[in-house]
Formats: sequence, structure tokens, C-alpha cells
Amino acid sequence: MDINASLADDHPHPMDAILVRPLRFDAQRVGNEDILWSKSSPEFAMFSNALGIHVPWFERFLVAVMRQSRERVDSERLRADMKAIIGQEANHAHAFEDWNNRLINRYPQLKSLSDKAKRDFAQMQAHKPDQFKVGFVAGYETFTFLAGLIILDRYHELMGDADPTIRALWVWHQVEEVEHGSVAFDVYQNLYGEKEWYRKAMVMLAALHIISETFKAYHVMIKGEGWYRRPRRMLAAFGFFTSFAIDLFRSSLPVFGRRYHPRVHPRCNHDQNRIAVAWRAWVLAGGDPTHLETANVNKWCTDPITH
Ligand SMILES: [Fe+2]
Ligand SMILES: [Fe+2]
Repeated sequence: MDINASLADDHPHPMDAILVRPLRFDAQRVGNEDILWSKSSPEFAMFSNALGIHVPWFERFLVAVMRQSRERVDSERLRADMKAIIGQEANHAHAFEDWNNRLINRYPQLKSLSDKAKRDFAQMQAHKPDQFKVGFVAGYETFTFLAGLIILDRYHELMGDADPTIRALWVWHQVEEVEHGSVAFDVYQNLYGEKEWYRKAMVMLAALHIISETFKAYHVMIKGEGWYRRPRRMLAAFGFFTSFAIDLFRSSLPVFGRRYHPRVHPRCNHDQNRIAVAWRAWVLAGGDPTHLETANVNKWCTDPITH
């Protein structure tokens, strides 16, 4: 296909269109030897595997909170975006649950962590006030869209040489997290916009939640791979976790500014990530988004882009 023709028609800002793409990935075909699915960075593979353990429960919580809040939002356009984020996140939750079942098969201790995350979100859903729930979702979504941008920007370093199925899952997820990256923020602004300090507190609470949930699963995986007995591997794993957390924290600083909106975050602008642009065009043109070959993505990165 002519990728440039499709790219020229593409939207100028990554948050302009939220398309629901109901994808399923054959996670069960990944063998134990490829559980750390990125040869470019096994530490990133472990980090993303660990991050994903509690994610489907958050995504289901988000769907419930959006459904509950929809009628109270007074903007028709935002209600349409809420419908789209519900569609995207419901599909993400399915895909992550499949992959997580494969991970639980490899590291059985993850089952209790996943069950606990499920219970925690159910408790939050049942007992916390609406403002907390909407605020927490907005805080959490700050990091999913920023992680989306960071991972796509560091694509070659993190997953340039990787399993084509699980790489495809992550590219799909990250592109869509960026696409709907302002919806939860806009919902919070629409319903509780005057409570700016509360929004910022929720960003910090969500950061702590994500880091602690990810670290618990990361520890199980380091242990499962025997890396605690291999000092170099262990140091590399902790080094990666720390450096990624710092990258994410640095990127989140503009979120605490007075006139912040996700669309004007310095990392999210019209100078779009070329993999995201090419991926969207490729999917629209009928490419298979559940399987991403290395050569395919590399070609997107070397082809000239015409906006
Ligand atoms: Fe998601
Ligand atoms: Fe999201």
C-alpha cells in the first residue's frame, strides 16, 4: 500500500479521533522462552508484563465510572468521547486478561496479586464517592497516555526486536491510550473542574498505585526468572524500573501546571510519533494489527512522511 497517501490524510493531532478497534491476540501461542517477549530489552518486557497485571481491573473500573458519569456530563461531544473510551478500554481489558492468564501460568504467584487488584477496584467502585472515582480515573489516565507516548518514542530501544504478537498488543494499546488521553481529564473538568487541588492529589495517588502494583508483580517475575541469584540481571532489572519511573515522573510535571490540558502536553503535539501515524494508516488500509513484524515497522520508520 502507499503509506504516504494514507499518512497525508491522517489527523494532525494524536487525540483527534478515538477509534474502537476490537482486537484479540493469540497470547497462548507464546512459549515460556518468549515470556520476556522483547529481545531488545527483556527488562522492559518484564516491566510491561508486570504493569499489565492490575491493568484490566483498572480498565473495567474506568468503564463502570464512565458509564455511571455519562448522564451528568453536559457536553454532547464529551459524551461521545466517553462512549469511545468505554469501547477501547473494554477491548484492552479482554486482551490483557488473556495475556495475564498466560503470565499466571508461568508465574503462579501472580494469581493472588491479580485477584487482590480485582477486589480493590470492586471495593473502590462500591464504597468511594463519585468525585474520588472520577478523579482517580483521571489521575491514572494521565500516566497511561504518557507511558503510551514514552513507549512509542523509545520503540526501537524497548521492542525493536520482539515477539510480533505481544509487540502488536502493546503498540495497539499505547496508540489508543494516547488517542483517548484527554477524555478522563475532560470528564473531571466537566464535573469537578473547580477542584484543581483534588485533581492534582489524584494524579499523585494514581502514580503511587501504579508503581506499587507494578513493583509487586515485577518482584514475583524477577524471582520466577531466578534473577535474584544473578546480580547483573537483578541490577539491570532494578535499574530499568527506576529509570522508567523517573522518565514517567519527569513527563508528568506539566500535569501540575495551572493551565494544563493533555492536548497541550509538551510530549503530545502535532509532531506525531511516526509509528503511531503509520500504524493507524496501516490498520485503516486493512493491515493485520495483531501481528507486527520487525521489518514492517522498520519500513514505517524509514519511509518519508508527508503530512
Ligand atoms: Fe487501556
Ligand atoms: Fe486509557
